[in-house]
Amino acid sequence: MDNIEIIGGNPLRGEVEVSGAKNAALPIMAAALLAPGKSVINRVPRLRDIETMLQIFRHLGVRCGWTGPHTLEIDAADLSDCAAPYELVRKMRASVLVLGPLLGRLGKARVSIPGGCVIGPRPIDLHLKGLEGLSAQVEIEHGYINARAGNLKGGEIYLGGRFGSSVGATCNCLLAASVAAGTTTIVGAACEPEVIDLAGFLNQMGGRIAGAGSPRITVEGVKELRPAEYNVIPDRIEAGTYLIAAAITGGEIVLHGGRADHLDALLERLQAMGAVIGREGEKISLRREGGLSPVEITTLPYPGFPTDLQAQMMALLSTVPGISVIIEKVYPERFMHIAELNRLGAEISLEGPAAIVRGGRKLSGAEVMASDLRASAALILAGLVAEGRTTVRRVYHLDRGYENMVEKLTALGAAIRRLEEQDI
Ligand code: UD1
Repeated sequence: MDNIEIIGGNPLRGEVEVSGAKNAALPIMAAALLAPGKSVINRVPRLRDIETMLQIFRHLGVRCGWTGPHTLEIDAADLSDCAAPYELVRKMRASVLVLGPLLGRLGKARVSIPGGCVIGPRPIDLHLKGLEGLSAQVEIEHGYINARAGNLKGGEIYLGGRFGSSVGATCNCLLAASVAAGTTTIVGAACEPEVIDLAGFLNQMGGRIAGAGSPRITVEGVKELRPAEYNVIPDRIEAGTYLIAAAITGGEIVLHGGRADHLDALLERLQAMGAVIGREGEKISLRREGGLSPVEITTLPYPGFPTDLQAQMMALLSTVPGISVIIEKVYPERFMHIAELNRLGAEISLEGPAAIVRGGRKLSGAEVMASDLRASAALILAGLVAEGRTTVRRVYHLDRGYENMVEKLTALGAAIRRLEEQDI
């Protein structure tokens, strides 16, 4: 397994291009299964999760592949198999997004239940509730979801859960409802930009969806969707990670091709800390004038502060003198990175779903272990300011969600390199 080695101390300076959003590309790819023909999706990031989805598609009999650096062609004319096996689903939870399209196209689906993961239990009850609300019969057997629908029928579906709305369940429901007979109303829908992007693609395919981006979405089912071409939105989590990287190193960066309006919660918190943020068209910039102040952060569904930036923000706050508090409301157990940040010299303790960060301690390089995708990014950010050498192990997590991170950080002036397994 590859490692990443960082020598801390260089402020990041320069410009960086934001990649397409993984979490928008995955449901959009799933939507392409609904049309018997060739869809083209542009601005897809080259990431391991995208490759996993392509493997699942090939297993289903779909022809798909790259036709440009960031362009995917998906030809679902011959979609024939309705089963997504455990060997593939276990690599990525978002595989469960094929449930809705398989039901919509073939009237049946057999998808392995994704397991839990280190960020805590991740149930799929809302996905199943949504599909049942469209008249599908769902059974769980031998670790698989077996779903059948003679005819999907529209209905009124409430998708609010214990931790708020669910992005994945809203997407699965939108996918199936688009080809169900009659009208579906989803109440308690997730409002994330990735849901809006999925609805945009489905509408391009001939779907009739209104209200995406609000908690109440209406879908008028259509008999058939046609293939379409679409550009995926920029990755707000990647963009946010680079802004935090600039803040932690005391540098100055300009992001190109980002969407500041998708990052309001982060930009507001960074400004409250004293960072200077610029927004101008597709450019977002960050610089520091002096020190930063501690803040409180609560992660919440969009437009609240994203849970996917919590670990990176914790790394930043551990360098800011004073006491900061981070409350995790989306995944209350998503704190595996605390122990590793503390190995680098941070002083963070956990009180229930709240992390107390006693910031301002000097970080010093060490060997650390990445537990999940966003935690890997947080450890790299801490390594950028830690004195000396930091080695981040298990960086395969990073390849799931950050396109060319080592190259992008190097271009910004970081001393970072990837050590391939044979070099270690
Ligand atoms: C998506 C993102 C992930 C992000 C998360 C929250 C993708 C591919 N992944 O994941 O990066 O961290 O949104 O912003 O887009 N829940 C249930 N029952 C369900 C489904 C979810 O209780 O059936 C709970 C989850 O355990 C969690 C909360 O709802 O506490 C939000 O999860 P959800 O929005 O579904 O996350 P994902 O779509 O899996």
